[in-house]
Amino acid sequence: MKLVESNFLKINDMNVSVDFFLKKDCINLLRGANGVGKTTFIIKLLDISKKVSICFQHRLASINSTRVKDILKVLSENNSLDKKSLDQYLEIFNYSQFLDREVNELSGGENQVLKLILNLSSKKDILIFDEPAQYLDTTNLYLFCDALLKKYNSKTILIVEHNTSYLKNLPLEEILMVKQEGHIEIKNV
Ligand SMILES: Nc1ncnc2c1ncn2[C@@H]1O[C@H](COP(=O)(O)OP(=O)(O)O)[C@@H](O)[C@H]1O
Ligand SMILES: [Mg+2]
Repeated sequence: MKLVESNFLKINDMNVSVDFFLKKDCINLLRGANGVGKTTFIIKLLDISKKVSICFQHRLASINSTRVKDILKVLSENNSLDKKSLDQYLEIFNYSQFLDREVNELSGGENQVLKLILNLSSKKDILIFDEPAQYLDTTNLYLFCDALLKKYNSKTILIVEHNTSYLKNLPLEEILMVKQEGHIEIKNV
């Protein structure tokens, strides 16, 4: 799948040579040292492809007292989410209990699960998860893995993750982002 039109872009004034592919039928795993530019790179992909949806690393925040159900309503109405999938994931993650809660009052784990549900329910073809396991308890981590297991045949999935032990039962395609002398490389390994 061709994601990047030009194979050169810049992160923090460093040239990034992009020479990787995303596989279908497996989980693509992007690894690299802290601060190498993984998050910056995947955010750039949003400009490059309309097919991409991202579960961001940082918590979902709202400026006022927006409730979870308000966000779901807006995203459903603007056709970003598959309504049927959304209802399924709300049930799978036992999340209906949080619909009336204000987004800013969710705990780290509750906020993280909401971001996972939104991305899993996206209508886009390429789903990217930036450090999705953060804040998750064992139950939610298990539910997320199970969701990936059922999803990777129908969507292209890219996960940015350091500790990948929870993914060990899934077929993985590893992509590495490394700083070489004066430039950054992204390549399959
Ligand atoms: N908002 C920002 N303003 C300035 N520099 C940033 C910002 N976000 C990230 N950076 C810098 O860009 C580099 C890459 O960051 P990031 O993409 O978050 O790395 P990674 O996700 O691989 O840990 C780092 O040096 C980081 O300090
Ligand atoms: Mg990051």
